[in-house]
Amino acid sequence: MDYFLYKGDELYAEEVLVSKIAEQYGTPCYIYSQQTLERHWHAVDAAFAQHPHRICYAVKANGNLTLLKILADLGAGFDIVSGGELARVMAAGADPQKIVFSGVGKTTAEIRQALSIGIGVFNVESLPEIHRINDIAESMGKIAAVAVRINPDINAHTHPYISTGLAHNKFGIDKNEVIAVYKTIRQLPALKAVGMACHIGSQILELTPFAEALSCVLQLVTALKEHNIILQHVDVGGGLGVCYDTEIPPSLVEYASTLLSTLHKQAPYPLDLWLEPGRVLMANAAILVAKIEYLKESANKTFAILDAGMTDLVRPALYDAHHKIIAVKKLAQKEITVDLVGPVCESSDFLGKSRLLAINTGDLIAVRSVGAYGFSMGSHYNARPRCAEVLVHKDETQLIRRRETIADLLSHEQKQPFIKMQALGNDFVLLDLDENPELWSSDKIKQFSHRQTGIGFDQLLTIQRKEGNQFYYKIYNADGGEVEQCGNGARAVALYLILENKIECSKDIQLLTCNRLMTVKTIGPHRFVVDMGKPDFSPAAIPLQMPLQDQYEIVADDEACNFSAVSMGNPHAVLRVEAIDNAPVQTLGKALCLHPCFPKQSNVGFMQIIDKHRLALRVYERGVGETLACGSGACAAAVIAIRDGDCQSPVTVQLTGGELIIHWQGKNEPVWMEGDAQCVYEGTV
Ligand code: LLP
Repeated sequence: MDYFLYKGDELYAEEVLVSKIAEQYGTPCYIYSQQTLERHWHAVDAAFAQHPHRICYAVKANGNLTLLKILADLGAGFDIVSGGELARVMAAGADPQKIVFSGVGKTTAEIRQALSIGIGVFNVESLPEIHRINDIAESMGKIAAVAVRINPDINAHTHPYISTGLAHNKFGIDKNEVIAVYKTIRQLPALKAVGMACHIGSQILELTPFAEALSCVLQLVTALKEHNIILQHVDVGGGLGVCYDTEIPPSLVEYASTLLSTLHKQAPYPLDLWLEPGRVLMANAAILVAKIEYLKESANKTFAILDAGMTDLVRPALYDAHHKIIAVKKLAQKEITVDLVGPVCESSDFLGKSRLLAINTGDLIAVRSVGAYGFSMGSHYNARPRCAEVLVHKDETQLIRRRETIADLLSHEQKQPFIKMQALGNDFVLLDLDENPELWSSDKIKQFSHRQTGIGFDQLLTIQRKEGNQFYYKIYNADGGEVEQCGNGARAVALYLILENKIECSKDIQLLTCNRLMTVKTIGPHRFVVDMGKPDFSPAAIPLQMPLQDQYEIVADDEACNFSAVSMGNPHAVLRVEAIDNAPVQTLGKALCLHPCFPKQSNVGFMQIIDKHRLALRVYERGVGETLACGSGACAAAVIAIRDGDCQSPVTVQLTGGELIIHWQGKNEPVWMEGDAQCVYEGTV
């Protein structure tokens, strides 16, 4: 049962008019019903309630993050087949322990990714894969739990493309080899066999193949017991069929009772039952809504040419699959026989053939039962952006995947413009997200930050206009991690905005970082003052595990040392030295940075007071080491020198990379940092 029903002449998704959704989000679009999905989940769960079981939803059927989250919240585990699906389920909040990693071609990178996340089990499909997982787990100091997927050589009587349990299919390990394979696993130090799995195909409409496959699994489990190999679970895969047209699939109750009675009769000892359903949960939870662009009469046929095609739903083209197609608004007019086809340049591009429908050009139709293997098998063929996905829950709708744009399609092939900036010894690459649609991934940041093989930079800055002169401003270190604030970067951003004529020059620039709003004032063609916020001396802000004092004394690097501590958005310890050139930046700086009194580490500044308005500074930055310049470090040093009466505002701070002027009028006032910025070059990557 699903929640796509007519009320009067109009089709509804739960309590919302389908035509309204199409109007709001455009066509083609997938519309999902949350209540249908939840109902299917509860039906599967209830059918197996009397036996310890785990339902690992087969993500390949539909990997939309919102749908995965609904299932994760219901307690689902997940059956994944790639690193991409693993990333999806993790983003949706899956419990890693409830993840089963299936598939014949797991790569080294995927296995590593799964082991570091700590997934529940690998369903293994060949000896070379078993050895690969063992080697990787061993190198990572981990034990990988595995279940062998067996090939029971059973005919599931389904479409040959989705039949997987026959001896000539690429899937699983020959049932005659299975015992030897478990013995091999026992010899391998980084593997532990915990279960046995099978999956014989999809859209299966008979119960006998399921019972035979499980029976085959249980015979092998029994034989393993003779060799003292004891497992905890059997995994029967997915495969239960649904009704697309006139099929009568077994009910969930019949399916469960067949599997459970086989298990009870043949299991040599108690075993948990795991399932990997995809279609049965998802198929009937969605419709695909499309508009009729043209009605085209040919010699002996009428074609309804839709704005959706095989790129949106490939099942008819690939498997000759039948999906019911209905009008979104029932019209009191004569039905015509039409082939519903898409705009793609292939004769296989059809969604339904010889259907009787009362339709006109411009009308909407709905293709039913497309939740499983619908959107997930979509493509960009003919350079068609993928369509929108909308979720309905009772009377509410939510866009759960925006329609792709043409720009999305081009973005992977286009070179990306970037601009390289410099501000006092720090160099930055700036991405203007209003101009570049793509934000670099942390892997890409690492790659491009490299000074020999990339562009080379200390930090990546991104900006995006919020409104007027206000911009979102984000800062990423060369390792891809995001940081709270960077005053030197703020000047670089300000210069870029001026050079590109992107702001009203009479007004201050406001940059919204992940934790505060920074104001930047322009005082010369390349010169700016940046509001760096108020200094916070409280140990909690730094954080520093010592009671509040002006000077702290600890032993670091085997020597007693005194320092002052302040947070300027990030933590700083400041030490006074007599001669800046001989300051023990590499030794004491590092020891203090990593000292247990700073649970999150601290930047360490060594300062030499030169006169009332000048000091020299070298900084050891946490995670980086000694740098040419540190803007917040300059603020921290000047603030401490002013607080302690050694200097007066403004203080010129002489850093290895150049000079900054720090203005601070005392407690409760923000610190202003004045300095230059330069544009180095513009390029594309
Ligand atoms: N577990 C494994 C290891 C699988 O390979 C599959 C599906 C499932 C579970 C979930 O099977 P389900 O419960 O959804 O039948 N694209 C085809 C279906 C391919 C099925 C691939 N494997 C279609 O549109 O009919």
